[in-house]
Amino acid sequence: MALENKLGITDSSELARVEEKISKTKALELFEKGLLDIFEVGSFEGLSRIHKYLFEDIYEFAGRMRTVNMAKGNFRFVPAMYLEAALATIEKMPQATFDEIIEKYVEMNVAHPFREGNGRSTRIWLDAVLKKELEMVIDWSKVDKED
Ligand SMILES: Nc1ncnc2c1ncn2[C@@H]1O[C@H](COP(=O)(O)OP(=O)(O)O)[C@@H](O)[C@H]1O
Ligand SMILES: [Mg+2]
Repeated sequence: MALENKLGITDSSELARVEEKISKTKALELFEKGLLDIFEVGSFEGLSRIHKYLFEDIYEFAGRMRTVNMAKGNFRFVPAMYLEAALATIEKMPQATFDEIIEKYVEMNVAHPFREGNGRSTRIWLDAVLKKELEMVIDWSKVDKED
């Protein structure tokens, strides 16, 4: 069964296909409209604005913290009951150097604040931090999906 969505799609591979297309279009728009320069950089509020923009046509929960526990593979993300506290701590983490930014990104991935779409939204959030603080971004085409 597919995750509940605004499009009424019940088939999970169909949802994955449609979701990929819409979120890619929205990601391009996010960049072209200069919204990444307006959103707060390095906070959960900023990440939440990115997530909302990418997924608002698809999921009711776009931009909102998850309320369920989640795991991928053998890894359990921050339990829902500690999520708010974790996010408050993470957004205060420093982001002055490359290592600090990466450490902050890793913790944000461990928090995994949304029910779906964490990878996509958090990578854009990471690039916004790198761009603001170091005037650099990642060339994601050089990064293997598994890595
Ligand atoms: N075993 C794991 N341990 C830690 N993080 C993981 C693991 N598997 C996946 N991830 C992270 O979760 C992301 C996928 O989360 P998900 O919410 O489905 O985002 P998206 O839908 O954008 O891919 C990956 O991009 C990666 O950052
Ligand atoms: Mg996913």
